[in-house]
Amino acid sequence: MRLIDRTSVDLVDVSGGTYFPGAPSSSDSASTSGPYFIEFARCAKNITSIPVMLTGGIKKRIEAIAALESGAADAIGLARTMALNPSLANSWMSFDGCGPDFPKFDGTVPGGVTAWYSMRLTALGEDTEDQFDQSLEEALESYDARDAERCSRWLKRIS
Ligand SMILES: Cc1cc2nc3c(=O)[nH]c(=O)nc-3n(C[C@H](O)[C@H](O)[C@H](O)COP(=O)(O)O)c2cc1C
Repeated sequence: MRLIDRTSVDLVDVSGGTYFPGAPSSSDSASTSGPYFIEFARCAKNITSIPVMLTGGIKKRIEAIAALESGAADAIGLARTMALNPSLANSWMSFDGCGPDFPKFDGTVPGGVTAWYSMRLTALGEDTEDQFDQSLEEALESYDARDAERCSRWLKRIS
């Protein structure tokens, strides 16, 4: 952080959640609740003048406000919360809104949570999120099918 401080970097995002297929999603585990990098962000802020963004585990407006007011971060990053409700920033700015309801998944499928949020983002892009109702297994299947289809398309292009 001290090295970065001497550069022209505009923003440091303290973030992580291991959202890669095959890896458990640490931010969804029972042991993590609320902004799990808040102390890390606070330490970073103490040694840099670059604005610090805190990402990971923020699901409610009250958590975002508390983190900002405590001085631990200058900005808040939201990944899954925004994937569930992309209009959240507007509603949080205009009223005391809560966070979206997070899906409760039965059991764990390696990579399933990542696939579920990825396919949810795809549904948002296609304006079909109202019909998006996949289980972890279904999401993983459509995620893998989408990947395979992409690979074959790309391979045709470059061969
Ligand atoms: C669908 C999805 C894809 C992600 N892809 C990446 C990625 O490519 N690189 C990365 O560093 N983090 C990635 N993340 C992790 C997020 O940046 C973030 O650190 C993590 O989701 C925790 O924040 P949250 O609690 O607001 O979701 C991804 C998260 C999700 C849900």
